[in-house]
Amino acid sequence: MFPGPTIYAREGDRVLINVTNHAQYNMSIHWHGLKQYRNGWADGPAYVTQCPVQTGQSYTYDFNVTGQRGTLWWHAHIFWLRATVYGAIVIMPKQGVPYPFPQPDFEFNLILDTYAIEVEQGKTYLLRIINAALNDELFFAIAGHNMTIVEIDAVYTKPFLTDSILIAPGQTTNVLVRTNQIPGRYFMAARPFMDAPISIDNKTATAILQYKGIPNTIVPSLPQLPSLNNTAFALNYNAKLRSLNSPKFPANVPLKPDRHLFYTIGLGVDPCPNCQNGTKLVASLNNITFVMPQIGLLQAHYYNLKGVFTTDFPDRPPTPFNYTGAPLTANLRTTLGKQPRLSRIAFNSTVELVLQDTNLLSVESHPFHLHGYNFFVVGTGVGNFDPKNDPEKFNLVDPPERNTVGVPTGGWTAIRFRADNPGVWFMHCHLEIHTGWGLKTAFVVEDGPDPDHSVLPPPKDLPPC
Ligand code: C2O
Repeated sequence: MFPGPTIYAREGDRVLINVTNHAQYNMSIHWHGLKQYRNGWADGPAYVTQCPVQTGQSYTYDFNVTGQRGTLWWHAHIFWLRATVYGAIVIMPKQGVPYPFPQPDFEFNLILDTYAIEVEQGKTYLLRIINAALNDELFFAIAGHNMTIVEIDAVYTKPFLTDSILIAPGQTTNVLVRTNQIPGRYFMAARPFMDAPISIDNKTATAILQYKGIPNTIVPSLPQLPSLNNTAFALNYNAKLRSLNSPKFPANVPLKPDRHLFYTIGLGVDPCPNCQNGTKLVASLNNITFVMPQIGLLQAHYYNLKGVFTTDFPDRPPTPFNYTGAPLTANLRTTLGKQPRLSRIAFNSTVELVLQDTNLLSVESHPFHLHGYNFFVVGTGVGNFDPKNDPEKFNLVDPPERNTVGVPTGGWTAIRFRADNPGVWFMHCHLEIHTGWGLKTAFVVEDGPDPDHSVLPPPKDLPPC
């Protein structure tokens, strides 16, 4: 099937998904946005939490959906296979628990690809929008209809009305749409947001919202989408996203971080004797290009295997420089170690991580995804992060809580989370091309004080390496 089957579950369910690999290449599946508490074994990124499922082999992903409800998605997590191997995850609230927004009459999953939905006039629809694109942040709009944002990345938000949304690869957005227009056919349209100097893709993808009883011959009109490089819309839209922060769904933002991390995001050029022009593009965090291990990092951590990874990933770049100013070739340099370098995080400590885009090769936006956690996006800005003044402007009350966040082109984003989920958790740019170039790292979150707060034992059918 394409897209693949939708996984329906309820908050509190235990879910078992048997994956059998009928493809001619190795496969692994990631349940994007599920926290997998103590249970990285079910998280899925190949060579991080498991070795891939080989052709003809099976693996059962066995996990509990605890304290989460909303829209997420699943996708292959090995090389570029997520291009076609993905589907939606819909987690309903517990039986009898309503949504904290007007109850919709109907719901649809809208994976940004191709789609047509038939609607009745005068109803409320909940659209569960998923950006499954490989390399494009997308604007999305529906001709003639506004949308009320009610949830992002399976976390409820303060509702607000908008005519367009912005959604990065990996992110999900739930919107309510009222079918209050003259019955007809209306285009839904998605187009990339590209404010980097190198724009490659400007195609518009469309789907149709069709009122019942309207003939197919009526020609729909296109919605107004923000222009390709409309940074102002992007900043303004992101600033409007706020956690619901109600008594039932409080935003527990860590107020005092125990650990301050500052990671620069760089694109660079490395020598490559076997490549066509002797060089290749690489990407780095704090000038380190991630190297993939041969066996799963989580296994190496759990069994205490030596020589698979080190935990000396630096908390900040080797030397501070003007990150978004004129590029200096000295800063282009990346280091490629023999082993993956990870950062070790104490259990239950509070972490602040500032992701800073740089102009090493060119500035570009980077949607960063952290596995195993949601985080709070406490601040963002353009230019260089100012550690003195910017934190004073952080939103520590109702910042958006999510699992994937766009670091703006030539700017920075600050996130905070409590490291209460032990295991090895991948963090990477969700633009597949950047992941491939090495824009990724992982955190080793230590076990808690007792077995109930430590990584669970691995399942018996964990794929061998
Ligand atoms: Cu949706 Cu590591 O990915």
